[in-house]
Amino acid sequence: MSSTALFRISFCFSTILITVSTGASVIRCFEEPNIGNSLFGEGKHFMLKSSLIALALLTLGCSSSDKSDSVKEKAPTSAIQVEMQNASHALIAGFMKNLKSELMSAIKEGGVASAIGACQVQAPQVADSFSQENWSIKRVTEKPRNQTNKADAHQQEILGYFADSLKTLKFFDEWKDSEAKTGYTYYQPIKMGKFCLKCHGDTKALDEEVTLALQDKYPDDKALNYNAGDLRGMFVVQINSADNLPPVQQALRDSL
Ligand code: HEC
Repeated sequence: MSSTALFRISFCFSTILITVSTGASVIRCFEEPNIGNSLFGEGKHFMLKSSLIALALLTLGCSSSDKSDSVKEKAPTSAIQVEMQNASHALIAGFMKNLKSELMSAIKEGGVASAIGACQVQAPQVADSFSQENWSIKRVTEKPRNQTNKADAHQQEILGYFADSLKTLKFFDEWKDSEAKTGYTYYQPIKMGKFCLKCHGDTKALDEEVTLALQDKYPDDKALNYNAGDLRGMFVVQINSADNLPPVQQALRDSL
């Protein structure tokens, strides 16, 4: 083998090593304490790392196909985290069931337009009834009807994750302090159904009464012109610590 070829190969490998270790430190930034374990997180780290390795190979014209060896597996989700996920999921299911039954009975009683007023009163009340001092549930969106439901900057970032992979990403969760297991937050996307369009659909297709009721109660309404299947927002469940799991579970049993 000529010395040029040998130099080329060793240069190639050392550059890959440098690139891979740079990749590793970039990845560690993504793993700051407040970004926890999630289905998406793993996929994102893997993709970022793979693309850095692929870039190194492409730039140097090397023909190695051994890309996956250096990709470390992330630690599996802890048992506590799975319990937090299940409790959050159950809180969301309870909240949705109650809100839906309030909405349906309001529609049955007075029609869609009059249900808007009922929803204005009931939605915050139902959210409150599923929240306590150490845990809470709410819905947030980039296009709010009720301005108190506007997503903050961090929540908008998470909504972006869901928008990018709406079909595959079912939830995202994180700890404020992953060592101490405190400050847990669970996010779950909310998608538009056909039925929702009666109050959130194309403004040209809404019932006139619905339009008037919305203009009256929500003059700054942004939650319109959605299509079925669109990402509408997300549920945000916050649980202070794993110590709060038993009371959350008890509250859920009481709400049945
Ligand atoms: C009868 C009309 C009506 C229907 C049908 C309806 N909504 Fe709404 N929606 C409202 C009103 C009114 C609010 C504002 C509630 C408040 O003031 O907190 C709202 C608020 C929301 C919010 C909170 C964020 C925000 O913009 O304030 C979400 C998320 C949401 N709706 C999703 C849905 C989904 C998903 C469906 C279908 C399953 C649906 N809505 C069906 C009237 C409706």
